[in-house]
Amino acid sequence: MQFHGSHILSVEQFGLADLSVLFQTAAKLEPVARGELACDVLDGALLGNLFFEPSTRTRMSFDAAFCRLGGRVCDTTGFQFSSMAKGESNHDASRVISGYVDIMVVRHPQMGSVKEFADASLVPVINAGDGPGEHPSQALLDLYTMLKELNRDLNTINGLKVAMVGDLRFGRTVHSLAKLLSLFKDIHFSFVSPAELKMPAYVVDFLRARGHTVKETTDMIAGVANSDVIYATRIQEERFESIDEAQRFKGSYAINSAFFDRYCDSHAILMHPLPRDNRSESCELNNDLNSHPQLAIFRQTDNGLVVRMAMFALVMGVEKDIETTFRPVRFQKKLIGA
Ligand code: CP
Repeated sequence: MQFHGSHILSVEQFGLADLSVLFQTAAKLEPVARGELACDVLDGALLGNLFFEPSTRTRMSFDAAFCRLGGRVCDTTGFQFSSMAKGESNHDASRVISGYVDIMVVRHPQMGSVKEFADASLVPVINAGDGPGEHPSQALLDLYTMLKELNRDLNTINGLKVAMVGDLRFGRTVHSLAKLLSLFKDIHFSFVSPAELKMPAYVVDFLRARGHTVKETTDMIAGVANSDVIYATRIQEERFESIDEAQRFKGSYAINSAFFDRYCDSHAILMHPLPRDNRSESCELNNDLNSHPQLAIFRQTDNGLVVRMAMFALVMGVEKDIETTFRPVRFQKKLIGA
């Protein structure tokens, strides 16, 4: 694909060559993401960060990514503080805001809605999650994390064994990640979920049509055995008819330290798009794993910043100028308690 000037709506847009360009750009930007070097390659540019559903990581890391590249951000959060509460359409809101900014990031509760924004926009739009649809930037940062954690690259990830666990029906991150992994060869997918929350058939069919092995099971122990990556997900209670309906699934596929040590490959990495549901009835990745070396979830969120910086640089067509705009930082970030 051509990144420059393109909307990013689905992982289906990417090929292996695109991932290579994106991850090389991300690697260059790592010192900037860590605050060791400054970069103003997006000086003068303005991001519109539009989040109509709750978010911590995606909203703040897209915001921080743009600022770390020297741009500025204006945002709106929730329908209640936007004129969409007065009945304004996605089309009108998008056309208006795209006249103010240079690029937009949009999260919205309805599947397909971010494409409506893109269709009406004068500037590129990045999908930050459209209901149970897709979350392409999450899938990109997840893959970047897997490569780093497993010490592999785009040529040596073929044959990976990945267990995806929990709410695979409504969890958009697993839809995007599974489709992104289908670019490689001979991936072994193990989908572990309650029968009511299975991976949608269109995703399973997509993977099988590309020659991958897909096992679907409700049995947690069999489902995670021998996996290289165990990707846990939260029960997406906001997508159920009622909280009570979601409640009965919580905790059914929880992993704690004892479970990991007994049933998982000791080299397996534990991932989660976050947020974890830390309430006692849920705990899909228990707090007793917090200092476990195989728990990659916070390295995963750190990677989100640099991957989103690379997405901006490429979509805005400034990637060739990144290194020429590096300069020493005036403020030195100091890590405490790391
Ligand atoms: N992973 C993710 O999308 O997190 P947020 O909902 O906090 O953005």
